[in-house]
Amino acid sequence: MKIKSAEFVVSNSKVDLCPNSALPEYAFIGRSNVGKSSLINMLTGRKALAKTSAKPGKTQLINHFLINKNWHLVDLPGYGYAQVSKSTKKVFQKFITTYFEKRTQMVCAFVLIDSRHKPQAIDMEFMQWLGEHAIPFSIIFTKADKLKPKALQKNIENYKTEMLEFWEEMPEYFISSAATGTGKDEVLDYIENINQQ
Ligand code: GTP
Ligand code: MG
Repeated sequence: MKIKSAEFVVSNSKVDLCPNSALPEYAFIGRSNVGKSSLINMLTGRKALAKTSAKPGKTQLINHFLINKNWHLVDLPGYGYAQVSKSTKKVFQKFITTYFEKRTQMVCAFVLIDSRHKPQAIDMEFMQWLGEHAIPFSIIFTKADKLKPKALQKNIENYKTEMLEFWEEMPEYFISSAATGTGKDEVLDYIENINQQ
């Protein structure tokens, strides 16, 4: 899919205030600092559409972007960020789960996983939660540029092995790098295919 337009729509902390629109919506979710906002900029070809930071906890609101005037892309705050207070962390988790429970126009969540790390309990638990709530998701392994191809392949194989302890099959997955553009066409074509169904 070619990105012809990408516009910021609204940021807010309340799911009820998200755009009242039936357009299909794709959400990017994952631990703080995994690269959600950077990936959104890479996919849309806009350097600073979504705000990024080397410091975890940058995105704190639900951000809607309108793409090609016919679908929404959503940048969400990260989960599992240890340096915010426990109560703030809970608020994040609550509004993240509320977002997924209420946004029925959300057709696919992309769960971002840092390709450098071993499977983390919080990501496994979050995907488990999505599964229990019948919320469709795919995985994107981020920051692929930070690993040599062999190490990357090994990590992904490890990840698959661990996923298959909980899941009957490996969910659809992609490998991405916001630095090199790896995965851009694959993710955009995947979204286009769903939009055309
Ligand atoms: P929060 O909003 O805090 O939850 O973080 P986020 O998941 O949106 O991460 P963000 O996109 O802000 O990126 C975090 C840091 O990782 C930034 O310093 C980015 O430059 C860096 N980063 C993100 N993606 C990549 C990537 O693919 N490759 C490399 N090398 N760095 C990346
Ligand atoms: Mg962010």
